[in-house]
Amino acid sequence: MRKPIIAGNWKMNNNIAQTKQLIADLKPLVADAKCDVVVCAPYTSLAAAVEATKGSNIKVGAENVHWAEKGAYTGEITADMLLELGVEYVIIGHSERRQYFGETDETVNLRVKTALAKGLKVILCVGELLNEREAGITPEVVRRQTKIALTGVTHEDLDNIVIAYEPVWAIGTGKTATAQDANDTIKIIRDCLKEMYCEKCGEKVRIQYGGSMKPANAAELMAMPEIDGGLIGGASLKAEDFSKIVNY
Ligand code: 13P
Repeated sequence: MRKPIIAGNWKMNNNIAQTKQLIADLKPLVADAKCDVVVCAPYTSLAAAVEATKGSNIKVGAENVHWAEKGAYTGEITADMLLELGVEYVIIGHSERRQYFGETDETVNLRVKTALAKGLKVILCVGELLNEREAGITPEVVRRQTKIALTGVTHEDLDNIVIAYEPVWAIGTGKTATAQDANDTIKIIRDCLKEMYCEKCGEKVRIQYGGSMKPANAAELMAMPEIDGGLIGGASLKAEDFSKIVNY
């Protein structure tokens, strides 16, 4: 059985003071969680997040990482820099990176390979745009993104990968994919993993849903057999809402 994993993606929110406060509020509310709990914070708040979560069941993630060991990449951060802070997870390939910062399937693949080689756990984001959904090519899009992102990633590495299926049209819009639609697309991603690796490999990878997930729809989404968790944006910024999702 796959253990569910609920992760918050704070995006460009929460300075150090807000990070300390949110985690202090969150800790008692999620202490009995049956799922893995992760908060992904902006770089400048990571050290505070690691410190504030010490001794709790909350893990800390970053929102991106570069693939190179070091060098002339202004504004970027290496995996070693994250590890030095005590960060365990990293989101890679979020649609906002793809949309606003020129992230491609190929650069996602480079980041994924380096993150895994360094020992970070990866939350790999895939998902179709609205026009792709309307054109009926969601399966092709998520299969392409998954296959390219995981090129060169081994069977063993899969233990350190979580995939987040985030239909781009559902992010921050209040529009949620129906639980059935989300389940169906996640099944497509899982079948793709089975083709690429093996039946068991596809079965063991946890695949989250992300996109306007909130307390009101978490239970329905989490009840679907293929959905193993959530990647939560807006609702992860409030301790009460996020904890209700965690305790779905
Ligand atoms: P919202 O939950 O705000 O729709 O964001 C989802 C998301 O992008 C998480 O990575």
